Amino acid sequence: LIKPLSIAVAGLGTVGGGTLSLLERHADLIEQRCGRKVRVAAVSARDKKRDRKLDLSGAAWFDDAVGMAREAPAEVVVELIGGSEGIARQVCETAISSGKHVVTANKALLAHHGVALARAAESKGVSLHFEAAVAGGVPVIKGLREGLAGNGISRVTGILNGTCNYILTSMRESGKEFAEVLEEARKLGYAEADPSFDIDGIDTAHKLAILTSVAFGCETNFGGIHVEGIRHVSARDIAFAEELGFRIKLLGITRMTEHGVEQRVHPCLVPARSAIATVEDVNNAVMVEGDFVGNIMFQGRGAGAGPTASAVVADIIDIARGVNIPTFAVPADKLARIPASPMERHRGAYYIRLMVRDQPGVIADIAAALRDAGISMESMLQHGRAPAGAVPVVMTTHATEEAAMTQALTRIGALKAVFEPPRMIRVEPL
Ligand code: NDP
Ligand code: HSE
Repeated sequence: LIKPLSIAVAGLGTVGGGTLSLLERHADLIEQRCGRKVRVAAVSARDKKRDRKLDLSGAAWFDDAVGMAREAPAEVVVELIGGSEGIARQVCETAISSGKHVVTANKALLAHHGVALARAAESKGVSLHFEAAVAGGVPVIKGLREGLAGNGISRVTGILNGTCNYILTSMRESGKEFAEVLEEARKLGYAEADPSFDIDGIDTAHKLAILTSVAFGCETNFGGIHVEGIRHVSARDIAFAEELGFRIKLLGITRMTEHGVEQRVHPCLVPARSAIATVEDVNNAVMVEGDFVGNIMFQGRGAGAGPTASAVVADIIDIARGVNIPTFAVPADKLARIPASPMERHRGAYYIRLMVRDQPGVIADIAAALRDAGISMESMLQHGRAPAGAVPVVMTTHATEEAAMTQALTRIGALKAVFEPPRMIRVEPL
């Protein structure tokens, strides 16, 4: 008889609760698929008295999650607490130093300490799995690390934050402004109580740091990511984008350039007919460019109890089956250190929206600033008439360097006839 795989679960919130429910509901299926049972030997959370609607009778309760990681009679510790520092980090470090495998959904922890944890795990001969950390239920880590292992990867592009995608979709469909839709997202339980990690792009950047490492076999470099969120995207920009044949999405993009690895998170105009533009609401999507496979797109639910539990349990099943693949696809001590390509060197097309005084000569001054920076305009839109008042003027450009665009926007922003700081959104051809 094969011994069950014993696991200890730290954190019984949305993801922890979902994981235990899935393990209970699919106990027979899981046993069939891994040839052994998975047994929850121990659990830990903050509040023992809380009714979690889970049967915890067979599991030992630990008030101290770190103590559980050290002492529980388990081969695997599943960390579902969250946070890049403190208790979650200690739980993972203690589990590894105690010779236990780790499964986690914690993208913040991996973005900041993933390489150190991977080194510790690999030198101890245990594995560190994190499928749920990127795009929730979408198996993109397995996709990259296993399914696409034969390819050289040149670029990964993702909608990695469900909350932001919901907000942008809802703004477009309803014409409402950001603040109003954010409030709705909160009420629906999508956005966090403090939603800044979502809307300021940090959550997307955590996930992007992990994708970069797995795609390019390099160390994570969270500090090397250019990060902008969606607070400044207005209903007006969304409507103009639509008129020009685009949608606005918050993307995380990582690609190899001659200057190093370019990692950026920011709102983008994407062609309305591109596959990624049609990924709406809370869904996530990841597009990968491989040299032999071509373009691949993974998509599905990036958050929530069910989808995230699906990914956590897939990792547990891998361990039960004896799968042991290097954490970031390349042994941790062989991960390269690739310099970050500076944002000034980024090349691409741009959308610019200005609020200008409606008087003769203004467009000529703006065009002169673009000309002097060597930027070629592709299209221009102006609606309405407000003699001596403010009217929106929208331009798109041909591909140029970011440094040139910054130079032109500084000059344009200083013009007396330009009322607000220019709004700039990068265009991704996709
Ligand atoms: P929750 O806030 O719902 O749950 C956190 C759990 O951790 C709670 O059960 C809480 O206990 C427990 N906890 C907090 N502090 C301690 C402590 N000191 N000791 C022991 N347990 C503690 O978070 P989520 O389930 O949403 O997220 C968990 C992880 O999964 C995070 O890393 C998150 O980023 C990641 N993730 C979440 C997704 C989602 O859709 N929610 C999607 C993908 C990843 P108690 O219940 O008693 O308060
Ligand atoms: N807050 C995250 C999101 C949860 O909205 O996508 C999943 O990581």
